[in-house]
Amino acid sequence: MAQKITVSVIKADVGGFVGHSDVHPALLNRARELMSAAIEQGLLVDAYVTHAGDDINLIMTHRRGPDNPDIHQLAWDTFVACTAVAKDLKLYGAGQDLLTDAFSGNIRGMGPGAAEMELTERDSEPIVVFMADKTEPGAWNWPLYKMFADPFNTAGLVIDPKMHKGFRFEVHDLIDKKRVVFDAPEEIYDLLVLIGSPGRFCIKSVYSRTTDEIGAVSSTERLSMIAGRYVGKDDPVMIVRSQSGFPAIGEVLEPFAMPHLVAGWMRGSHNGPLMPVSVAQATPTRFDGPPRVVALGFQLAGGRLVGPQDFFADIAFDEARRTALQMANYLRRLGPFEPHRLPLDEMEYTTLPHVMERLESRFEPLQPIRTEL
Ligand code: 13P
Ligand code: 13P
Ligand code: MG
Ligand code: MG
Repeated sequence: MAQKITVSVIKADVGGFVGHSDVHPALLNRARELMSAAIEQGLLVDAYVTHAGDDINLIMTHRRGPDNPDIHQLAWDTFVACTAVAKDLKLYGAGQDLLTDAFSGNIRGMGPGAAEMELTERDSEPIVVFMADKTEPGAWNWPLYKMFADPFNTAGLVIDPKMHKGFRFEVHDLIDKKRVVFDAPEEIYDLLVLIGSPGRFCIKSVYSRTTDEIGAVSSTERLSMIAGRYVGKDDPVMIVRSQSGFPAIGEVLEPFAMPHLVAGWMRGSHNGPLMPVSVAQATPTRFDGPPRVVALGFQLAGGRLVGPQDFFADIAFDEARRTALQMANYLRRLGPFEPHRLPLDEMEYTTLPHVMERLESRFEPLQPIRTEL
């Protein structure tokens, strides 16, 4: 039996440069030093450090399985070290996503986001790491559905005998903290009832129904729910396996040619188009956006991360960017009106309680409406 490898993508915003737009190179360098040291010690097989907007992404491979305390400790310590650099440079929101002073074994629920998958490497193992800024984990629902359940996106569902049985979706209810599993294609209508509401229901993982192997995993933390107050959007990450029984690379990337609307953007309180960009273009400025998604491809080779291929740098996504910017122009004209602004219960930096408190004495009851004449 071939040795298993775990891919762990763990991310945090520990200080923006400038504002919420980018990560300062000094933080990325610090993270790279610590990742290199962990490779030398044998804790990691390989690592790649990058960013999407103001979020640092640690892409790590190792042999210890998901939710391993040593790997989570390493990620935590790396973010703490980067926070020290951020504080020195007085970067914006230094330590923003580190919600506690004491690490206790697992990074989930402590602020950073994590997507991890354990797999047995196939003869060739292409993976895509997606990283988004200025949005939330539910942003992956629409593209994951397109990749793994929509034959109009993924020709392999029709053509490839290894995909024809479909895929299994694990969905998490982030409010009631429950999970439910659906088989596609038979149960797609039930699946869509839930995942069409991405503020509450998130696709956590997808499995092949032919091989039972994992095909995708996302981060599903909700920072605001963890902290009970606004602490920044939980800008999500996701890992997708590709080819040979999974969607081809072109099928994995295809959903992002249509920028769908996601929650996030300015102050975590607006709907906007998810714009596919290269790492170099992942510096949200326009109204702190529009929300961005980066896709880095790697070939795994005995756990080594061969890559990256910065997929959305391709001119094939220019048109999607243009569409996203037109959508941004249109939505921005709505200003503080819904549906550009999020509904009140979804607003992250909401002033409503304060406004309502101040106005309370000025509210008068309406006369009851006469229903019978
Ligand atoms: P695989 O069977 O290797 O996934 O080939 C399909 C393909 O690459 C078409 O784009
Ligand atoms: P981040 O969640 O990326 O830090 O953005 C917060 C924000 O308020 C942007 O306007
Ligand atoms: Mg930030
Ligand atoms: Mg961010």
